[in-house]
Amino acid sequence: MISWGWRWQIHRCGKYVFGNASWQKNRSLHLPWRCCHQGTSGSLLYPEIRKFLEENTEITSSGNLTPEIKLRLLTPRCQFWKEKAALWPYKEPYWAIYWPGGQGLSRYLLDNPNIVHMKKVLDLGSGCGATAIAAAMSGATDVVANDIDPIAGAALTMNCELNNLNPFPFLMGNLIGSEVDSWDVIVLGDMFYSDKLADSLHQWLKKCIHAHGTKVLIGDPGRHHFVSHQIQSQLHKLTEYALPELTQQDNNGSTSTTVWNYGC
Ligand SMILES: C[S@@+](CC[C@H](N)C(=O)[O-])C[C@H]1O[C@@H](n2cnc3c(N)ncnc32)[C@H](O)[C@@H]1O
Repeated sequence: MISWGWRWQIHRCGKYVFGNASWQKNRSLHLPWRCCHQGTSGSLLYPEIRKFLEENTEITSSGNLTPEIKLRLLTPRCQFWKEKAALWPYKEPYWAIYWPGGQGLSRYLLDNPNIVHMKKVLDLGSGCGATAIAAAMSGATDVVANDIDPIAGAALTMNCELNNLNPFPFLMGNLIGSEVDSWDVIVLGDMFYSDKLADSLHQWLKKCIHAHGTKVLIGDPGRHHFVSHQIQSQLHKLTEYALPELTQQDNNGSTSTTVWNYGC
């Protein structure tokens, strides 16, 4: 079987069928925090994971919409940019990419800090954690990041450190469908990449809004599963950003990303 580098795999999936089942590796993670569903991300960062991330990512703050945030990402200078994806020991590293939806959302929070100032914010599907970091930089008092990938929790810790922030609590696992907590704001960057996910998010976010008056902000570059979903009828466009050249190249030519307010 031909094996391609991560970069190709992930962006191919991101554009068309993100999480393509035909390519899922189904590997189990032999990580001590596999059973931890909640914790401070700092407490979940084991030395071997830190070393692996240090060796296989590059610190960067360019080529995206938020140069004020430093992130460890997969770049052309990293071994796994072109290395066979099968050699990667963990799940697909979606956290190693700063997605256009997250970029727009983070830019919007940094430019409009009043939205999260003194608020309790959940970044659902946090990936590298950039939007959670933008919320903290904008004065949110209580920031929680959530992802189904434990390595995203490790990346979040290291990215917080890079930006001189104390690591936020990291909730590992699928919150969608669970009993809703009283978040003031929920932010979701590039989370509408399958019909199933879009449907479940739509229902769950509606409950969050009804139960607690939660404000829901969504960043998306116009992915098919988002623009074709019934959620569109309840969206209010807040702003649109042109994507930097590098992000365009890495995202199959997507030229812009939009921030939406979801209201019921
Ligand atoms: C396309 S990435 C976006 C990451 C980040 N928000 C950004 O914009 O850069 C999607 C992320 O959602 C996570 N994810 C997928 N399904 C999830 C779920 N049900 N709950 C929480 N996170 C999930 C993935 O692991 C991945 O990190």
